[in-house]
Amino acid sequence: MSIILKEKEDFKFGFELFDDFYGMCFFLSEKGLIIKSNKSTEKYLLKTEDELKNTSFFDIFSDENKEKIEKFFFKSISEKKSQNLSTTLTTNNKTWNFNLLFSPYFSNNHGTPKHCFANVRDITEKKQLEKDFLQFYSIAENTVNPLQITNLDGEMIYVNPAFVKVSGYLKEELLGQNPRIFGSKKHPEKFWKNMWKTISAGNVWSGEIENKKKDGTPFYTQLLISPILDNDGKVTSYFGIHRDITEKKMLEKQLIHTQKMESMGTLAAGVAHEVGNPLASISALVQVVLRSTTDDFAKEKLSLVRSQVGRISKIIRDLVDFSRPSTYELQLTDINKQLEGAIDIIEVGTKNKEIEFIINLEENIPKLLLVADQIQQVFINILLNAVDSILDNPNKNKPKQITVSSSIDDENVNIVLSDTGIGILEEDLEKIFEPFYTTKKEGRGTGLGLWVSYGIVKSLQGELMVESKRDIGTKFFITLPTQT
Ligand SMILES: Nc1ncnc2c1ncn2[C@@H]1O[C@H](COP(=O)(O)OP(=O)(O)OP(=O)(O)O)[C@@H](O)[C@H]1O
Ligand SMILES: [Mg+2]
Repeated sequence: MSIILKEKEDFKFGFELFDDFYGMCFFLSEKGLIIKSNKSTEKYLLKTEDELKNTSFFDIFSDENKEKIEKFFFKSISEKKSQNLSTTLTTNNKTWNFNLLFSPYFSNNHGTPKHCFANVRDITEKKQLEKDFLQFYSIAENTVNPLQITNLDGEMIYVNPAFVKVSGYLKEELLGQNPRIFGSKKHPEKFWKNMWKTISAGNVWSGEIENKKKDGTPFYTQLLISPILDNDGKVTSYFGIHRDITEKKMLEKQLIHTQKMESMGTLAAGVAHEVGNPLASISALVQVVLRSTTDDFAKEKLSLVRSQVGRISKIIRDLVDFSRPSTYELQLTDINKQLEGAIDIIEVGTKNKEIEFIINLEENIPKLLLVADQIQQVFINILLNAVDSILDNPNKNKPKQITVSSSIDDENVNIVLSDTGIGILEEDLEKIFEPFYTTKKEGRGTGLGLWVSYGIVKSLQGELMVESKRDIGTKFFITLPTQT
C-alpha cells in the first residue's frame, strides 16, 4: 500500500478516499495516536471521528489483545515494514474477527516513519466460512460413508478415506480418474444415461450399484449423487455419497442360493421317489425276462436296457443321497484317512496321466462324527472334477498338480482341494452347485457331483466353497465343524 500524500499535509482531502474503503482505516501518529479515521469506523466503534481523535489506537482493543497489537505496531514502525495480523475486537457485546494491517508511511527512504496507516478488515464471515468448511471437511474425512466429488468432465477431484478403503485403490490413483474405473458392467447403458440426465439437469439421483474393487471383487453401494451449484444455480460439480451395502447383498445372495438348493432338494426327493419305484420294477422285470428267454437278439437288447437302467439308477441314487438324510450309520471318522482313501481311488484312475498329487495333511485332527462313505464321496467328486479340468486344459506345458490339505482351527476342520486345471469362468461359479449343470460332453458328466457334495457337506453343518480363476485353477474349501 502506498499512500501518495506529503508529510505534515492536512490529510483531510486524501483521507476521504478511504470513507468507502472496506473496513476501518486510520492514520496514526508514530506513537499510535489516532489522527484520522474513516466513516466505517463509526459503524464498528460507535464513536465519531472527533471522539476518536488523539486517543490511543490500542485502546479500541480489549486488554488481552492490546499489548500484542502495540508490540506489533512498534515493530512495524521500527522495521519500516507492513505487517499483517489476525485478531478479534469486541464492541457493543459483539466480537468481530479482524485482519489488521499496519503500513508505516514516511516521506523519504531514510527517514523514520512519522505516521502509520492502519486498516482493520472484518473477516468474521470469512472466518465462519472457514470454520464451517473445516467442520465439514473433518466430517467428510472421518465418516464411514465413501464420498466423492466429480467435476463436470466426470473426473474425481475429491475422495475421502472411506472411499479409498472400500475401493482398494490409493487416493492418488483415484484423483483425476473417471468413476467408470469401478464399473462392474452389470448395469445397462440406459441406467447410467438416466443418471447423467438427472444430475446434469441439477437434480438428485440415487440408486443401488454394483462396483468393482481394484482387485476385481465386487462392492455394492447405495449411491446418492447431488449436483453442486454455484450462486447462479449453474452445476459446477457433483457430490456422491455411498452407503456400503456389500454385506447385505452378500447375505441376500447366500440366502437365495441356500433357498434354491433347498427347494431343489425337495424337488429331487419327489423325482427320486416317483421315478425310483417304477425304475425298480423295470429293472426287476428285465432280470426276469433275461433269465427266462433263450432268444439271443432279445438277450442282447435286454442287456442294453439293463445297463441304461443302471445308469438312471445311479442318478436316482445321487438324488436320494442329496435329499434324504442318510440311512448309513454315523461313526467317528478320521478325515485324513478318508482323504487318503479318495486320493488312492483317483490315482488308480489317473495312472499315466502325469498328474502330481501334493498332499499336506495336518496330524492330530480329531475324529468327526459322520458317515465315512459320504464324506469320501465328496472328496472323490471334487477330485474327479480336478482331474477332468487338468486334462481339459489345452495348455499342455502347465504343471499338472492337485493339492490336498487339511488343517484344524478352533472350530473347524478345514480341507482345501486345489487343481491347476482350466478354471471356471466367474459367471459360471454360482451355477456349478446346481443339479445337472455340466460343461462336460454327454456321457462324461451328469452335473450332479458337486450338487450331491454340497448337500452332504450342508447336512454336516459344514460349508463348501469355491474360488477359481480361468486358466489358473480351482480351489474348493470344505469346513466341517468339530462339534455338531
Ligand atoms: N475343478 C474344476 N475345474 C473346472 N471346472 C470345474 C471344476 N469342478 C467343477 N467344474 C465345473 O462344474 C461343473 C459341474 O460339476 P459337477 O461335478 O457337479 O458335474 P460334472 O462333473 O459335470 O458331472 P458329474 O460330477 O455328475 O459326473 C462341471 O461340469 C465343470 O464345468
Ligand atoms: Mg463332477
